Amino acid sequence: MCGIVAYIGNRQAYPILIKGLKRLEYRGYDSSGVALLNDKNLNIYKKKGKVDELVAFAEQFDTTSTIGIGHTRWATHGEPNDKNAHPHFSGDSNLTIVHNGIIENYDILKTALEQQGHVFKSDTDTEVLIHLIEEIQRSENLSIEEAVRVALTKVVGAYAIVVLDEKEPDKIVAARKSSPLVVGIGENEFFLASDATPIIEYTKKVTYLNDEEVAVVHRDGTFQIKNIQNENLEPSFQYLDMQIELLEKGGYDYFMLKEIFQQPQTISDCMRGRLNANEGWTTLGSVENNIEKFLNADRIIFVACGTSWHAGLVAEYLFEELARIPVEVEYASEFRYRNPVLTEKDIVIAISQSGETADTLAAIELAKERGAFVYGVVNVVGSSIARATDSGSYIHAGPEIGVASTKAFTGQLTLLTMMALNLAYRKGTISQDYYRQMVVEFSTIPTKIEETLKYNDKIEFIAEQIKDSTNALYLGRGYNFPVALEGALKLKEISYIHAEGYPAAEMKHGPIALIDEMMPVIVIATNKSAYEKIVSNIQEVKARKGFVIAIVTEGDKHIQKMADFVIEIPEVEEIFSPLVSSIPLQLLSYHIAVMRECNVDQPRNLAKSVTVE
Ligand code: M6R
Repeated sequence: MCGIVAYIGNRQAYPILIKGLKRLEYRGYDSSGVALLNDKNLNIYKKKGKVDELVAFAEQFDTTSTIGIGHTRWATHGEPNDKNAHPHFSGDSNLTIVHNGIIENYDILKTALEQQGHVFKSDTDTEVLIHLIEEIQRSENLSIEEAVRVALTKVVGAYAIVVLDEKEPDKIVAARKSSPLVVGIGENEFFLASDATPIIEYTKKVTYLNDEEVAVVHRDGTFQIKNIQNENLEPSFQYLDMQIELLEKGGYDYFMLKEIFQQPQTISDCMRGRLNANEGWTTLGSVENNIEKFLNADRIIFVACGTSWHAGLVAEYLFEELARIPVEVEYASEFRYRNPVLTEKDIVIAISQSGETADTLAAIELAKERGAFVYGVVNVVGSSIARATDSGSYIHAGPEIGVASTKAFTGQLTLLTMMALNLAYRKGTISQDYYRQMVVEFSTIPTKIEETLKYNDKIEFIAEQIKDSTNALYLGRGYNFPVALEGALKLKEISYIHAEGYPAAEMKHGPIALIDEMMPVIVIATNKSAYEKIVSNIQEVKARKGFVIAIVTEGDKHIQKMADFVIEIPEVEEIFSPLVSSIPLQLLSYHIAVMRECNVDQPRNLAKSVTVE
């Protein structure tokens, strides 16, 4: 939610900010803006809408400057318009700020500031913060970094901020709490951003700010970090390992399509070094390092949101069936507020693509407070969740830019499947023969996804048949029940068609009332177990004139006769089937959204990284 970028050095700041904002647009695209400092003049250019609108608007101005800050917004306080776009000025227009997060006590602060004569131009919480900094700087005669630090001691909420002071043109001040901020360190230049993507082509050396830290970067190449209690801190450096090509569309119309087609590769990347089909084993270093905890766990609790929660549901089937470990799967947003019972023998596994989801982070903090061992399954390297957990594994899917999660979902499934197989073998709940056989079978998944992707044209044709629907129902059983939920979520979020996922057998307890000839019903029917049951469910839909699209195993002639359309996928062990059966559903949603002229990568009202509750 909201992307921040800033630059200080000898290069022109504006092109760096714009390129960075475009990379961060997945975090929000309600408005964007930049503040540039030139000859001690601070100018702000901002516009409702996407970064391209800002670029067109700013053409009329002189954007020459070697220091600047930029922002792309996902609106929380105040509707998306020019006035509420960031950056915001202080009252005297000497200071400016960009902010990602929410100042929860902004109302109280605003009332107090108004009583001191401050007048606000926007409806945002962010403008209150820059006025507070201004007030403290003026009344206590402080440097900008001190004013920022003192102001932050009075703030409740979440923030990643970057502040510029017209009177101090050779420095930028930045701080974070619960929203991410990375500082890229070049030769006498600094780059600041919400994630590493705007930084990668300029420098690989970065430091990730921790909660309640304030950084000051200077044009002469020096920088300092303090905490808000005013203690000096030693920065720790990391070196980015990311390829720029991964941040481009690479010939595809949308990032989502590129990311769907990348899956054979990203799944192989996730398996690399962790699975050996020739020798028949799979292992994860950080599970190995904590093996006693895993083997003796009373329970595993998965916490996550959205698609990552669906990955947790698949994991519930895997861990209970294979490793016989009791599992619970919790929405992080519910878990954090419902006083859950946790013991030191519980393992909490947080699943997150971005590693920044506010509710998942809060659930982690709660679990840690209550003594549980907390493990992270995360995509974004160095993200807040990766750092907040006791241990964890990266899924190595590379940057996922489309707001709809695709390759991260299958990456999460890949990692969790390897984990379940390894733990099952270690616990002795599966035989060595079965373990080896499954590892070999699992290693073929990238090829099977490759084969499934070849049905893209047929799926596009089927999409054409249902693109004008207003509702859709997704049904699945067992391992494919979470796939039904995920298929429905994909359709909703990018095509704005109302869709629901249901366990197939539950249909007759309510949703069956919705079925008529206008209702497409997408049935994931690849299960070997309960095959006859799912066939009966299809019959029930057809008897009510529903329009059935069935995902079936290649060669399934039986369901072919009943369904209006089938999409065949290669035969796969049932425990791995979500990895393959979710692919046609991703493609179906994608094509429907394109046909409905929706912005597939940046659906309305959504953001990739949900850093607010
Ligand atoms: O980054 P996370 O995995 O923690 O994000 C969780 C959800 O916000 C995310 O999966 C969301 O549901 C996706 N847009 C779904 O495609």
